[in-house]
Amino acid sequence: MLPAIPGQQVAQSPPIDIASSFFYILWKQVLPLPIAAHRSDSVTVASSDAVVAATVASTPTRNAQPGLSLGFSSHLSPAPISPPNWSVSASVPLQLLEKTDESKVRVENEDDQGEDEKFSLLGHPMCLKRPREASPFFPTNPSKCTAVESGLEVRRKAVRSWGNETLQVADPEIHEIMEKERQRQFKGIELIASENFVCKAVMEALGSHLTNKYSEGMPGARLYAGNQHIDQLELLCCERALAAFDLDSEKWGVNVQPYSCTSANFAVYTGLLLTGDRIMGLDSPSGGHLSHGYYTPSGKKVSAASIFFGSLPYKVNPQTGYVDYDKLEEKALDFRPKILICGGSSYPREWDYARFRQIADKCGAILMCDMAHISGLVAAKECASPFDFCDVVTSTTHKSLRGPRGGIIFYRKGTRSRKQGSLLGEGNSHFDEEKINFAVFPALQGGPHNNHIAALAIALKQVATPEYKAYIQQVRKNANALACALMRRKCKLVTDGTDNHLLLWDLTALGLAGKNYEKVCEMCHITLNKCAIFGDTSAISPGGVRIGTPAMTSRGCLEADFERIADFLIRAAQITCSVQKEHGKMAKDFVKGLQNNRDIIELRNRVEAFATQFAMPGFDI
Ligand SMILES: Cc1ncc(COP(=O)(O)O)c(C=O)c1O
Repeated sequence: MLPAIPGQQVAQSPPIDIASSFFYILWKQVLPLPIAAHRSDSVTVASSDAVVAATVASTPTRNAQPGLSLGFSSHLSPAPISPPNWSVSASVPLQLLEKTDESKVRVENEDDQGEDEKFSLLGHPMCLKRPREASPFFPTNPSKCTAVESGLEVRRKAVRSWGNETLQVADPEIHEIMEKERQRQFKGIELIASENFVCKAVMEALGSHLTNKYSEGMPGARLYAGNQHIDQLELLCCERALAAFDLDSEKWGVNVQPYSCTSANFAVYTGLLLTGDRIMGLDSPSGGHLSHGYYTPSGKKVSAASIFFGSLPYKVNPQTGYVDYDKLEEKALDFRPKILICGGSSYPREWDYARFRQIADKCGAILMCDMAHISGLVAAKECASPFDFCDVVTSTTHKSLRGPRGGIIFYRKGTRSRKQGSLLGEGNSHFDEEKINFAVFPALQGGPHNNHIAALAIALKQVATPEYKAYIQQVRKNANALACALMRRKCKLVTDGTDNHLLLWDLTALGLAGKNYEKVCEMCHITLNKCAIFGDTSAISPGGVRIGTPAMTSRGCLEADFERIADFLIRAAQITCSVQKEHGKMAKDFVKGLQNNRDIIELRNRVEAFATQFAMPGFDI
């Protein structure tokens, strides 16, 4: 126990007149630093180690107490005894304090001929004890300065003690889970077509102080002050987004604030449609995304796009697996959607944007592309560009684009003419960018996630480089190599191949349930996802899997590596087959055959030995 200043009482609990959470936290955090409270309802500064030592040295050992002395007290409580002549350097102290000029008060106290100075700290009236001649802001004799700065030191320590701890120290439980996930990512073969591995710079921006700032609104027009740097950041991100897709800023605008692509899509509908207006997108079992509208076969509206708007899907041709453009046109002319959507989640082929444009013009629809999956390919000019034909283009930023999780909206600016029909007026329709920006904020979102915007800007800078183009070219080569390797082994792929980064493996030909195959792969440390194949009767038990190459290409895999991956996939299919034969296809029976399955353990070892050869972007193991 450290000794207290004479005449002071033992502080048993946080002083009641400073019971704000701020002080309570200080009080809790600095323990076991000594508290020297003048009375049970007041406190005095005794803070830095030096000051504490001085306090200890200059005071007899009486009324020893643990605790904190902050050096100022509430004017609601009696004035504290002034501390001894602590030596403090001259600097402007206590940024948290607002000085109130009228409040200098002489203390009528024989022992202590000092001045009290009133302050407001975080809205709480406080009083700082000072020696008589010394000005706290321009001290004439530094040796007479009070413990103001030492009080600041206590607070610095207190803030650092909760604010600057590593995750491992602050929250070992979360740290441990995150470590396990890190190992999982490193040791496995990642084939989920919508996933990728971001670089360290992107991670750094994500885990940065930028998360602290509120900046609702657009650059230059924010709700809150202090956004000069955030404005610069968002403008740079927008500039890079347009550059990455080679877009003219006179013709295209961009909003980088959507938290996800689902939000981005809904912002487009919110901005351009009225409730109940109609949209048309690729059916989910055909490879479309829920955010383009989806009803279950029993008629349940699944996504907000279907809850608030009327949606009618178009489909792929069940024989070929390609979008059936003739049927789409027929349906669109009957349904007259106000927005026609192209783009999907599991479509391995090129989109015929020119044909979409024709159809949209015929029925007077806005043409929107959700290029979430292929945006990296579009940026690298490794597939047709939706920008040549579409009015609005949305995307995720975390798939082939290899940025942080988020959404983005590009919109055509200005006036354009429509020969056929019009969405927003007769004849010439004006496409109002304000409507989209307004839909993002304030209609649907609050403050943008500035750490994500910074991370996106970093990713977009990379997207514009020759290295990124080479990466995307390799993504496609790898997808093609994998497709060929599987087809050589008589596996059936939807559309018999791929034009992009993903392939759809129709497992029905092998008699396998997509779910069972996905489970076996997961146990062998290969991650891919079950996926509906056109003609599937149940969305719960789809007959195929979707396999993508962006993530493993980011780890440096080439075509020969994907030949090995094809071997692993075939082996996993054999294991699934034999477990199904022995235990049945039903999930509850099937899983019984997976426990301690020697084939699975053996394949898992091979998969991990393979995967751990490759480097991991973002972190080293
Ligand atoms: C085509 C498409 N649009 C939208 C989304 C949704 O993206 P997010 O998860 O960012 O909402 C996806 C995600 O898989 C997608 O594939």
